Amino acid sequence: MKFSSSLIVLCVGFGLASGKLTPNYTSPLGVEVYNPDQLFNVSGPWSLMTKAGNLLYISGMRGFHPSNTTLAPVGLPRIEQAFSNMQQLAKLGGANLTDCIRLTVFVTDMYRWRPLVNTVTQELWKDVAPNYPARTIVEVQRLNDDDIVEVEGTFYLGNQ
Ligand SMILES: *[C@@H]1O[C@H](CO)[C@@H](O)[C@H](O)[C@H]1NC(C)=O
Ligand SMILES: *[C@@H]1O[C@H](CO)[C@@H](O)[C@H](O)[C@H]1NC(C)=O
Ligand SMILES: *[C@@H]1O[C@H](CO)[C@@H](O)[C@H](O)[C@H]1NC(C)=O
Ligand SMILES: *[C@@H]1O[C@H](CO)[C@@H](O)[C@H](O)[C@H]1NC(C)=O
Repeated sequence: MKFSSSLIVLCVGFGLASGKLTPNYTSPLGVEVYNPDQLFNVSGPWSLMTKAGNLLYISGMRGFHPSNTTLAPVGLPRIEQAFSNMQQLAKLGGANLTDCIRLTVFVTDMYRWRPLVNTVTQELWKDVAPNYPARTIVEVQRLNDDDIVEVEGTFYLGNQ
């Protein structure tokens, strides 16, 4: 099984949590909105992630290279990149992949992309396999930019 170098870098980074981010906004009841600008600047009226209590919600990620906002090649590299982007945001938010509560994956072709989503998931969670997060995967007619996959993750931050 061949994985791109980005995924290998990712796996080396597995489990590393980083420092505390400052929320860009905190609602009256304490929902925190985060738009760390190290990876992406959002392109519209949404935020990269939000936190309520000790739960971290990451927006649907697609397979952009953060460095130049171009999409990785269609297929495995695109799907790896989408998961990588989610993982990097989780890390910035102080969460581990192992503390993922749920993944929701949208694909535009269940037969072509679901096996590759499985491959990427197995590689990323290999240290705890077969104990994967809860997951929903659905086929949708269209994603933004006619993309093929989008993944969103919810993470537990533990007692902070
Ligand atoms: C992330 O997981 C690794 C491996 O299980 C563990 O050593 C580390 O303490 C965890 N970090 C956090 C912030 O939970
Ligand atoms: C959100 O906060 C971060 C860290 O303070 C800052 O770097 C970034 O520019 C802010 N983003 C927006 C959209 O205000
Ligand atoms: C996002 O925008 C900020 C402020 O304009 C800039 O400093 C930062 O480099 C940008 N980040 C990316 C990944 O383009
Ligand atoms: C964007 O960055 C990625 C990763 O660094 C690189 O592989 C790709 O060739 C770049 N694409 C363009 C159009 O510069």
